[in-house]
Amino acid sequence: MARRKYIAGNWKMHKTTGEAVALAKELVDSLKGCPHKLMIAPPFTALAAVAPVVKGTNILLGAQNMASVEQGAHTGEVSVLMLKDLGVQSVILGHSERRILYGETDELINKKVILALTQGMEVVLCVGETLEEREKGKAEEVVTRQVSECLKEVSERDLPKITIAYEPVWAIGTGKNATPQDADALHSVIRKVLDTLYRAGIGETVTIQYGGSVKPENAKDLLTMPNIDGALVGGASLKKETFVPIAWFDR
Ligand code: PGA
Repeated sequence: MARRKYIAGNWKMHKTTGEAVALAKELVDSLKGCPHKLMIAPPFTALAAVAPVVKGTNILLGAQNMASVEQGAHTGEVSVLMLKDLGVQSVILGHSERRILYGETDELINKKVILALTQGMEVVLCVGETLEEREKGKAEEVVTRQVSECLKEVSERDLPKITIAYEPVWAIGTGKNATPQDADALHSVIRKVLDTLYRAGIGETVTIQYGGSVKPENAKDLLTMPNIDGALVGGASLKKETFVPIAWFDR
């Protein structure tokens, strides 16, 4: 089964509402007719303003995180119900910045994944090893654990709503990307983990993005690898000039 390419932009903590709307409008114009699946994840504060700009276009609206519970006394958190209310269709969960800077564990991320799926939301689940883990030869072990723990109790029926983003932490925002071969090898490991967790062959059906210093110059080499189905783009998603050529990598 041919998997569709999926390019997503994670805007992180960038852009005021006005800036976000302006970029979203440029992207809607420039990406008309792009054959790949596309998503942008503006900051929470800009979601309501960006929603009408992307509505009915080929760009999905994503959020960068959400709370692990539906509602209640959780000061500062944002609920999946609030995101749905704004028209958010997809949520990035388990980003390494959430794991490292905000102490998110596989267990917490798993709760969020289940909640998002229960509410009909698509999920981009991020996994990836740190430099220290890679240097100790533990990359595969770490990623295997993250995938297994974060997908606990997720049924095979819900798997089509999950995209996995393999993002080696040492490659995020550093300008150092994994070689296409290294990234492809880890993607292949993830497919095998999915086969073990669910059943043989299922791994081939799941979309797996690569993330970490993806830019126009390296997008094509990465995105044409057999196991790399797309990209989760940080820094280069903040400007039309860099995001559009990544999304159109094969034009
Ligand atoms: P980067 O970020 O493209 O700036 O390396 C990727 C990410 O964190 O998703």
